[in-house]
Amino acid sequence: MKARLASRFLTYLFATAGLTVVAACNSDSTLAPRDDSPQISGNAIAGLDAFERECASCHSARDAFDIAFFAFPDTTIVRRAVAHVDTATAHDIVAYVRTVRALPTSRDFRPFQPGGTRAAGDANFATQLFVADRWPTDMTAEQLAAIDPLDVPIAVEFPRWSVEFDNIDWMPDKPLDERLLDYPTPYGTARPFLESYHATHAENDLVFAVLNLRIAERAVDNPDAPCVMEPFDRFRPTECFETRRWISTLAAQHMLRYGQRDAVNAILHDGWWDVGNAARRSLQTPEEVDNALENWAQWMYLGWAFEPDRHASVYLSLALEALGLPRHATFHSLRAMVARAENSQAPFMDVRNTARFSPPHWTFETMKFGLEHLVDRLHSGISLRNQEQIDESREAVLAAYVQASRKLTVQAERTDLLVLVNEVIDGLDQLVPAGP
Ligand code: HEC
Repeated sequence: MKARLASRFLTYLFATAGLTVVAACNSDSTLAPRDDSPQISGNAIAGLDAFERECASCHSARDAFDIAFFAFPDTTIVRRAVAHVDTATAHDIVAYVRTVRALPTSRDFRPFQPGGTRAAGDANFATQLFVADRWPTDMTAEQLAAIDPLDVPIAVEFPRWSVEFDNIDWMPDKPLDERLLDYPTPYGTARPFLESYHATHAENDLVFAVLNLRIAERAVDNPDAPCVMEPFDRFRPTECFETRRWISTLAAQHMLRYGQRDAVNAILHDGWWDVGNAARRSLQTPEEVDNALENWAQWMYLGWAFEPDRHASVYLSLALEALGLPRHATFHSLRAMVARAENSQAPFMDVRNTARFSPPHWTFETMKFGLEHLVDRLHSGISLRNQEQIDESREAVLAAYVQASRKLTVQAERTDLLVLVNEVIDGLDQLVPAGP
């Protein structure tokens, strides 16, 4: 049942049966009051109203789904609520939260953590994935493409929902700037879609609400946009980071609500990547976001893991490298490479990145894999957009070779790679650009 309908239904139930919330909910074990403070008894209907007014500006689901889902104890809800409302209202909110339909999990749960658990480190990630700490000699592009990054345990921990002592969590520290809801885009404005989403929890409304917000937070002609990066002096790092976290919580709660574990829509998951990008770019300003590197890596991985055919860039790899995780960075480059679109220039850049990030004892196998994949692509009759892309791709492959050969100690391996490099260059030389 849709949540708004559910809450109307509950309202009806309370009104007609005259039941207290606690009694009404005892019939359903998932709705039973938790026993940490059974003495709290408030008015659930007033609680919902208070939550929408006083809490929803930050807790974006608006119906307190997150508070129920992450099973915050009543005492915690009251302690947090009294920062915004009086004690009686705080008790109303507790009474309301007890009615929210959610299968409670732990507050320590890290949503979407790949494989459900964290790898102990970079080498452990590799041995869990490949059995041994090396790139498999017989790996095919099809096999690699079949690996879902969401299933692969990594040493990077994804954010918790709420952490009070740092910013490595989903919850935005600030309410959304409401003006972003009214910025007009080619798709309308976010506000009506968000209103509708809160009433229906329909995916289409969510996608358009998020799309409009993501356009609004970066539109050059929007004076209220915190995430304009060109010109870079318009960029307001903290505000952008918080805005993007706020937007991100919408999709996360949607997925948790419906137990959705697979990708929903690139518009949603790219928004998670963007949080990482705000953290990354903040490092180039005097206004560094706290824990910028961790946030950069976690959020970009979150976005990428759901959309492994997007984000043809070196950015996530750079963060993984900076965290001392070169095998993760290499896996990211090559897994991204095999998912690229047919006529994309990105695979050539991916091979260059692979050369940069591969640990020395992985380098021969990963480069061989990457270069052979490029040869296959060229043989299959791809085209690149223009001569500039062809030239850049050639440079990327040569740069990859130079970097890789520095890591190799066996001359025969260099020679083998050079043969492949020449095949790629020949293929590129024969390409006719698709456009001018
Ligand atoms: C200004 C934004 C904002 C508002 C308004 C707000 N919260 Fe929060 N809330 C947060 C943030 C941010 C966190 C995550 C923890 C942190 O960073 O302190 C959080 C965390 C929580 C938690 C979990 C705390 C924990 O132990 O981790 C509860 C419970 C909570 N809020 C309840 C409420 C209630 C109830 C209201 C309304 C009465 C409310 N919040 C209003 C921002 C807000």
